[in-house]
Amino acid sequence: MTGPILIFDSGVGGLSVAHALRCAYPEAAFCYACDNAWLPYGLRQDDELTARIVAVCLAAVGACQPSVLVVACNTASTLALEQLRAALTIPVVGTVPAIKPAAHLSTSRHIALLATSATLRRPYTQTLIDSFASDCCITRVAADGLVVEAERWLGGYPPSQMRLNAILTPLWQAARDTPPMDTVVLGCTHFPLMLPWLEALSPVALNWVDSGAAIARRVGQVSETFNLGHHDNRSFTTATAESLCAGLADYGFAPPELLHLKN
Ligand code: DGL
Repeated sequence: MTGPILIFDSGVGGLSVAHALRCAYPEAAFCYACDNAWLPYGLRQDDELTARIVAVCLAAVGACQPSVLVVACNTASTLALEQLRAALTIPVVGTVPAIKPAAHLSTSRHIALLATSATLRRPYTQTLIDSFASDCCITRVAADGLVVEAERWLGGYPPSQMRLNAILTPLWQAARDTPPMDTVVLGCTHFPLMLPWLEALSPVALNWVDSGAAIARRVGQVSETFNLGHHDNRSFTTATAESLCAGLADYGFAPPELLHLKN
């Protein structure tokens, strides 16, 4: 494999996956692409979103010639993995909610799934629940507002405790249920970026489970070797994003280049 690993998300969420991948493969080259012009994906219609995801990924693949595409977005993966695989010749690794590891961890058998509205209603997500957590009570919490908070945070604005608690109240209630919810699936890649706040605000100790380690394992399986000599670490956005330069740099990426989509 000669090209970099390309990580794609609607916004900054994929940086949580970039972190997991860099920890697993410190010598590999990475590129990052995000569709910030269409953010948040979780509130978009499925049909227009599928076409958009394919168009943006094709443009990003054309720009950096990667050896593998990591779709670091649950909202995109639960919708468009099949279409992406049909449109591309490189391996495509997706991100789906970590229901299976959460079911292994939960002792109370009450799990919360924190995700975008779109991910929560996808048949793909229901199939994961039916396959791996059919004996668990699942509390579904739509947290599109947390995507906005993570974007603001990476843009340099710390979140307000009041806004976060307003979004997370259903989680705190579930933790007081009988049986109490003890494990939270972070079913959106933006959410691990907010983990210090989630842990600090939670009234009880909870297991927080994301997909980063599983994605890193999968990337290792599809790519036997990585390009070790080529560290350009380019990033791409679909709208100008001066405010993201510092956040991208924190994760090792160069200031973003504007991605040009074919009509
Ligand atoms: N980071 C994306 C995910 O994992 C979603 C963010 C959005 O709604 O755009 O689902």
